[in-house]
Amino acid sequence: MASLSHFLIITVLFIVPFFSCCVNAQLSANFYARTCPTLPTMVRNAMRQAVSREGRMAASILRLFFHDCFVNGCDASILLDDTATFTGEKNAFPNRNSARGFEVIDTIKTRVEAACNATVSCADILALAARDGVVLLGGTSWTVALGRRDARTASQTDANNQLPSPFANLATLISNFAAKGLTATDMTVLSGGHTLGQSQCSSFKTRIYNETNIDPAFATTRKRTCPASGGDTNLAPFDITPNRFDNEYYKALVARRGLLHSDQELFNGGSQDALVTTYSNNVAAFTRDFAAAMVKMSAISPLTGTNGEIRKNCRLVN
Ligand code: HEM
Repeated sequence: MASLSHFLIITVLFIVPFFSCCVNAQLSANFYARTCPTLPTMVRNAMRQAVSREGRMAASILRLFFHDCFVNGCDASILLDDTATFTGEKNAFPNRNSARGFEVIDTIKTRVEAACNATVSCADILALAARDGVVLLGGTSWTVALGRRDARTASQTDANNQLPSPFANLATLISNFAAKGLTATDMTVLSGGHTLGQSQCSSFKTRIYNETNIDPAFATTRKRTCPASGGDTNLAPFDITPNRFDNEYYKALVARRGLLHSDQELFNGGSQDALVTTYSNNVAAFTRDFAAAMVKMSAISPLTGTNGEIRKNCRLVN
């Protein structure tokens, strides 16, 4: 009896964690090398077309991937449409009238299905597309490990609870990322994703009208298109080069020109000031560290093996 319970304890303590570790470790760069060898080229070409049509699309796809990974892992749950019986992530507060780029993923999926039927997950397509968008706008490349499978469910509540708020303070941001296994350093470098793209006025209005740690000239400029009342969907760029993957975002933070409250929290006399200063002076360090942090973010809780499914249409469970 004693030896049976010893056996069970050893199984639970050592053997089960070993296998659960290696289910995640199944992601690999050449996962589709035999089953869909043209996948990387198809995604890259489609992203090149999409970004040449609209530079912002690289930003939108990058954000889509971040919002996918932060809500129960990189499992394409954000791509699921709501149905009569199912309320997903698309209409959660951080995504509603804000997350964009779904049509680009649909286009890629259609082409990939035509070439490699029922083989490639939507989660992997999104991971590749996010990387390609960054590279197209000047970022450093990284290797995307593949083999994620797609979720069969999505949770609006989880999206509301797990995605960081633009009104959050530094401690909350750090703990939001810690909940996903990411460090404060990862958080600061991944926030550099805001070197691309735009924000709606509703997300930064309180900052430009009420906060004091803001460059007054910058606040005046932003107020021109973000009135105290109304104009909530008007857009402003996060930095002066929203279609270039550079370190202007960090230079803006040092100059107290962070657009969101959460952006300026990274340079407001706290633990991340030194790193922000480093990146503001060293674009190569930023793009290198961003690539490494994206590899970490891309590995959050993937579904692998026989979990989940390979969706035929990224918007619908099979
Ligand atoms: C640190 C916590 C973060 C907060 C609070 C935050 C919040 C926001 C908000 C409020 C917007 C504007 C949305 C809108 O107005 O429609 C936005 C846009 C964006 N975010 Fe973040 N974000 C965070 C981290 C990240 C990370 C880690 C990435 C990528 C690695 C990222 C990438 C982007 C991009 C690229 C855009 C522009 C999207 C576009 O132009 O379509 N963000 N974010």
